[in-house]
Amino acid sequence: MNTHDPQEPSGGPATGWWTEAVIYQIYPRSFADSDGDGIGDLPGITARLGHLADLGVDAVWLSPFYPSPQADAGYDVADYRDVEPLFGTLADADRLIADAHARGMRVIVDLVPNHTSSAHAWFRAALAAAPGSPERQRYVFRDGLGPDGAQPPNDWQSTFGGPAWTRVDDGQWYLHLFDTAQPDLNWDNPEVRAEFLDVLRFWLDRGVDGFRVDVAHGLVKQADLANWQEPQEILSSGQEVDKPRPPMWDQEGVHDIYRDWRRLLDGYDGERILVAEAWVEPAERLARYVRPDEMHQAFNFEYLLAAWTAPAQYAVITRSLEATDAVGAPTTWVLSNHDVVRHASRLGLPVGTPRPNGIGVDDPQPDAALGLRRARAATLLMLALPGSAYLYQGEELGLPEHTSLPDEVRQDPTWERSGHTERGRDGCRVPIPWEADAPSYGFGPTDASWLPQPPLWAEYALDRQRDVPGSTYELYRTALRLRREHGLGRGTLRWLASGDEVLHFGNGPLGVLTNFGTASVPLPDGVEPLHASGPLDGGLVPTDVTVWYRA
Ligand code: NOJ
Repeated sequence: MNTHDPQEPSGGPATGWWTEAVIYQIYPRSFADSDGDGIGDLPGITARLGHLADLGVDAVWLSPFYPSPQADAGYDVADYRDVEPLFGTLADADRLIADAHARGMRVIVDLVPNHTSSAHAWFRAALAAAPGSPERQRYVFRDGLGPDGAQPPNDWQSTFGGPAWTRVDDGQWYLHLFDTAQPDLNWDNPEVRAEFLDVLRFWLDRGVDGFRVDVAHGLVKQADLANWQEPQEILSSGQEVDKPRPPMWDQEGVHDIYRDWRRLLDGYDGERILVAEAWVEPAERLARYVRPDEMHQAFNFEYLLAAWTAPAQYAVITRSLEATDAVGAPTTWVLSNHDVVRHASRLGLPVGTPRPNGIGVDDPQPDAALGLRRARAATLLMLALPGSAYLYQGEELGLPEHTSLPDEVRQDPTWERSGHTERGRDGCRVPIPWEADAPSYGFGPTDASWLPQPPLWAEYALDRQRDVPGSTYELYRTALRLRREHGLGRGTLRWLASGDEVLHFGNGPLGVLTNFGTASVPLPDGVEPLHASGPLDGGLVPTDVTVWYRA
């Protein structure tokens, strides 16, 4: 394999807290419930911030907590400047931000600019107004095709299944790339642009440190809304940089929006950041979102989806570093979030399994022990890489996907919209366990839990793992401490003797080796292991184990 020297950025590498931060994703519905209604809330989060400070993360990112009918678990926002009563009040948000800051952690909030909820005042006004009215111009309304306009305006599909258009009473259709309850905004309309600049100001003034930007690759559509007969998923390995883009994703116009936002953020003190949720490939294409005058970071989903083999991991790490180095941005790394099967389960499926969209009880089940072993190795590998890393709540406990949720409790719109062919994302969103012997495993003061927790949650509870040597929680906590002590996030990756079975690199004073092969392998002579994802085998590194050592 080649030696990779990432020391050749154009325009100089970015600096700032975020370039090496470990950012922990909180999914408010499922983190901690203070009032016992079975749904997590902001006071619950604030009460548990000590856990995150102990764990050693630099920042939290909160999935949406705004007023919302919860048609897509809060990614359907009805009011961008308030808090959903289920989750608390604006005063609770202020307290959460202040408490996190007092503990030395930053707070990133979710911004959902591609679509509003159908309950948003703008959409209600649009439905009440006539075709062609200014109210309708805030969204993407069109006449249908066919003699009486009964066919949708084009062939686009909703990401959750079914057509991306819904017809309203007067015969027009509106576009929704997601659920029918999530109408897409019209970003060609200056009023929409002005509104979101104002929403950004609202939260910046309340002290947030940044925004995770939902569907950042979707805001601008190709002007002619042309048909697209090919698959709409643009995250598929090997896509060439110049290949035509699907007309609903990754259009050139999105970049102007982020330049405007960057200018606004740069006017604030304290290094506020923008993070792109953009399912875009290849890495060079994604890197365009983090050019010096645009966003700060973009989620690296290509890394999340890479197969658990040494060559695949080598390739994605190399490509990711090269692409972001070329624009002077930090690379990011992520293995789990609220949209994908948790990596402790994903990695327990046979290598090369296509991305599962949820797992049900009658699907092939992951090998739980193998999945956890690989997940621990993957995490230790990820946390040794230079750049910024994202963790998803519960992964520090080694939580698996809930793969036996009864179908009748599923809430992800994917399940209905796909005609019950795709289970969807509920299995990674189950409320997390804090105390093995408490009601709802300490999620809240009662047994209530908006999705049922499986009985095996007890063994993953935080109180069963804290101070227990070898537990997944202690693995994470030690890794975060050593990562900080050794400056791994701002280090430089030096490939050593990586091959088909082993990934081996240096970063600062540490060496890092992951064994993907079938036989145990030795560490270099004379080195001292510092941290490992599993027990060593008489000084050898067993299969699916990562070791950090002092060179
Ligand atoms: C991405 C979010 O992460 C996901 O949960 C949501 O369903 C879609 N965007 C639509 O907002």
